[in-house]
Amino acid sequence: MRGSLHFNRREALLGVAGMAGAACLPAWARSAAPRTRDVTLVARPSRVPLAGSPHPDTDVWAYDGVLPGPEIRIRQGERLRVRVENRLAEETTVHWHGIRVPNAMDGVPHLTQRPIAPGETFVYEFDCPDAGTYWYHPHQRSFEQVGRGLAGALIVEETSPPAVDRDATWVLGDWRLTKDASISGDFGHMRDISHNGRIGNTVTVNGRVRDIFAVRAGERLRLRLINVANARIFGLEFSGLEPMVVAIDGQPVEPHAPEAGRVVLGPATRIDLILDIAGRPGDRYAVIDSFYSVQRYRLLDLAVSDDDPLPERADKAMARLPSNPLAEPDLRNAQRHEVTLSGGMMGHMSSAMMNGRKTDIRTLMHNGLIWAINGVAASGHVHDPLLTFERGKSYVLRLVNDTAWHHPMHLHGHFFRVLSVNGQPSARREWLDTVLLYPREEAEIALVADNPGDWMFHCHILEHQAGGMMGVVRVA
Ligand code: C2O
Ligand code: CU
Repeated sequence: MRGSLHFNRREALLGVAGMAGAACLPAWARSAAPRTRDVTLVARPSRVPLAGSPHPDTDVWAYDGVLPGPEIRIRQGERLRVRVENRLAEETTVHWHGIRVPNAMDGVPHLTQRPIAPGETFVYEFDCPDAGTYWYHPHQRSFEQVGRGLAGALIVEETSPPAVDRDATWVLGDWRLTKDASISGDFGHMRDISHNGRIGNTVTVNGRVRDIFAVRAGERLRLRLINVANARIFGLEFSGLEPMVVAIDGQPVEPHAPEAGRVVLGPATRIDLILDIAGRPGDRYAVIDSFYSVQRYRLLDLAVSDDDPLPERADKAMARLPSNPLAEPDLRNAQRHEVTLSGGMMGHMSSAMMNGRKTDIRTLMHNGLIWAINGVAASGHVHDPLLTFERGKSYVLRLVNDTAWHHPMHLHGHFFRVLSVNGQPSARREWLDTVLLYPREEAEIALVADNPGDWMFHCHILEHQAGGMMGVVRVA
């Protein structure tokens, strides 16, 4: 029997009819219930060939013991039921990043659920209202749990997906490895918290250091990029090819070439590309990450296989993906709020509120905190709301990054439109769940607060989150 939490009218109908015997159900009642997909995920330690030979295998924490976690695929409008078993030595939870779940399914420890103790199981169950590319990860001590490998893709397919030859996912991971390819144990170090987070020294695509990714001449690929790194920002250049961005954070955008030829993904960001493979068998196209210009490196080569080129496609044009059912904010009547980010190295924050008390920076740092939102440095997930929204109302938030660092700011349970960046109207007014603010940048975002509950709003550089850059937005 399902919990009353998700007991909606259609299921109630079905439930009553079900007691009379499912076989007698009229066809309309049978099709009215969303199909439920059942998945089991076991969070556990494992050992995987992350760096590849000649390096030894690496001890990780992983869902089902594989890196990345199993890709979950579901159709838009279907219901997902995931049984999560915790075989780690510490508590965990799972957060479904970008999925507009009911609050109790959001996976935030203490705020939306009791954490899953070692040996315990928790069942998450929710509908997936939006098609697109999403992911899942723990929200408990995420700077270490995600950093040790707990992350996986969650793909919600359109009811009629665009015609491509292949739909592929690249989960982009970043690791700090020691000489023997084991994960460096210095999680939560103040040096990383106070600067740009735990940037690693080894980048993986789908859990391995790769040399090539095989493609076929003439092939049209839908490439779903997901940045699951704790802190690394990627800026990918597909030299010689013309990738088109068709969705960001799962939400469709007008197909367009990436700005300055570079696909930028802050932590937690997803970008769907359509990539037409030009060239002939044997050709190679390097994919370069040039985000941190001093450390440009080759991510991998797209290697054109010896297979015969696919015939030229008749439908060269790229249609916009169908929009998801998001409520349009009413900008004329929206209430406005300011949200200021402060702290970090080279900042001028001298104090912040900690546990309801004004606290000087040295005491904050002693407690592992160095970041604040509107003057509050948060420890733990439960605190007084930073903002309280009235359910169904529209809001515009002016996010001001008063720091010398990048911050990918993520709001749970909702999508927001980016209205402007540094006072300039944004070109595409894209819907995001995570907006990457550059140093000293400001952005205006707008949303309808239509999902009731207490929702996290935090930086997705997981060390910044742990270091205080987090708050609760209440929709009541
Ligand atoms: Cu991807 Cu609060 O998380
Ligand atoms: Cu940050």
